[in-house]
Amino acid sequence: MFTDKIYARRRQTLCDKLTAAGHTGLILLPGNLPAPNNYPNNTYPFRQDSTFAYYFGLDLPSLVGVIDTDSTEDTLYGNDLTVDDIIWTGPEPTLAEAAARVGVAHTAPLGALQERVTRALQQSRRLRFLPPYRGETKLQFEDLGLNPEAYSVDLLFAVAEMRERKGPEEIEELERAYLIGYEMHTLAMRMCRRGVVEREIAGAIEGISKSYGRGVSFPPIVSQHGETLHNLHSDGVLGDGRLLLVDAGAEGLAYYCSDHTRTYPVSGKFTSKQRDMYNIVLRSHDEAARVMAPGMMYMEAHTTAQRVLAEGLIGLGLIRGTAEDAVASGVIGGLFMPHGLSHGMGLDVHDCEAFGERTLDFSAWIDRAKASATCIHRATWRLQPGTVLSDEPGIYFIPALIDKCRAEGKFKGIVNYDVLDAYRDFGGIRIEDDILITETGNRTIGQDSGKKIPVTVEELETALS
Ligand code: GLY
Ligand code: MN
Repeated sequence: MFTDKIYARRRQTLCDKLTAAGHTGLILLPGNLPAPNNYPNNTYPFRQDSTFAYYFGLDLPSLVGVIDTDSTEDTLYGNDLTVDDIIWTGPEPTLAEAAARVGVAHTAPLGALQERVTRALQQSRRLRFLPPYRGETKLQFEDLGLNPEAYSVDLLFAVAEMRERKGPEEIEELERAYLIGYEMHTLAMRMCRRGVVEREIAGAIEGISKSYGRGVSFPPIVSQHGETLHNLHSDGVLGDGRLLLVDAGAEGLAYYCSDHTRTYPVSGKFTSKQRDMYNIVLRSHDEAARVMAPGMMYMEAHTTAQRVLAEGLIGLGLIRGTAEDAVASGVIGGLFMPHGLSHGMGLDVHDCEAFGERTLDFSAWIDRAKASATCIHRATWRLQPGTVLSDEPGIYFIPALIDKCRAEGKFKGIVNYDVLDAYRDFGGIRIEDDILITETGNRTIGQDSGKKIPVTVEELETALS
């Protein structure tokens, strides 16, 4: 948790942003509720809502923060523990004590929120909230007489603008999450050898994330079938000749995330075919990291990464023509890398994606986003100092997609499908690091830590030896 002043300043800035744009009323920011797993008292580990954590810091369930933009008074609604609760949970600070730690002077029982909402509605005051993404929160809104679909686009943009520009205290937390990621990935490399089951590695690195932080930032992808982008079937037995893709990250104690991918040979040595393909992806990764800068549209970095992939694939005879024509044809996003280069990083591993696509008229961007296999939000994204984003190009050989494109006559004259046949069982390669946009350019999170997750062929072969 940060200091009370940081949270108070963030809430004030949010208020100022909205009132400057003429938007007054109440802002409702619900924290997350406990989420039952297989029966009510057996809950998933508690994960606070990231926006609530950003403005109200507290890592406790069943709280709702209310910011009154007219009086600039903040209130935390929640219930103090009863003795019956304490028997199970142990003592916790009272709501008033917890609220004071994040600079909130006013507290009230959760039951009083209904009256506050009803009163505001009777007074025709605007109630603004973000799109709820959990069923429990949607029901909570409905119980309060609010339509969960009636979220505020103004609030969504104001919050996103703030959360997407990281302050120094947030960057420190991202650096901490990097160090956990470093431990996870280097352990995976040490464990990688013929006969090991993928699950053993997935479980071990998840254990690291839990012992240093709050756990993984998403379920780890540990697979010799890296061509399946989010392959969660970690039941393969490692075999020489295969490439193992490990995409994994951690949430630090303050919820900030890391997200890294490495791909390496189970045998410890790349074959020349694997090395050639690996180095194409690495050049794309390095070139994207080289060009990312403040003021740049994200799509420029995305297209740069695609162009380098195209150059490499032309060099191997998999596609024909020029790299520019290949990128313009959509073949990279349509066949070889069917995902975007980046996503935002922060309190969520895909930062602020709980907000969904920003509700604007995106019609001008739809085709461009579709052709490049990225989402509309990212197609309209401008990098700014404080933006943190992943850099994760890949090349994948997905038999079902290859067959579909070939059967439909797609990318005819561009893709050499006969050469491509020789790669059907190659798998997939992805390389991922997290980048901070600075005032003058960028730096990779973790680059000054003295702990580099091996990434070049030589570094990986040394780590695997
Ligand atoms: N590392 C998983 C993802 O970015 O979707
Ligand atoms: Mn990622």
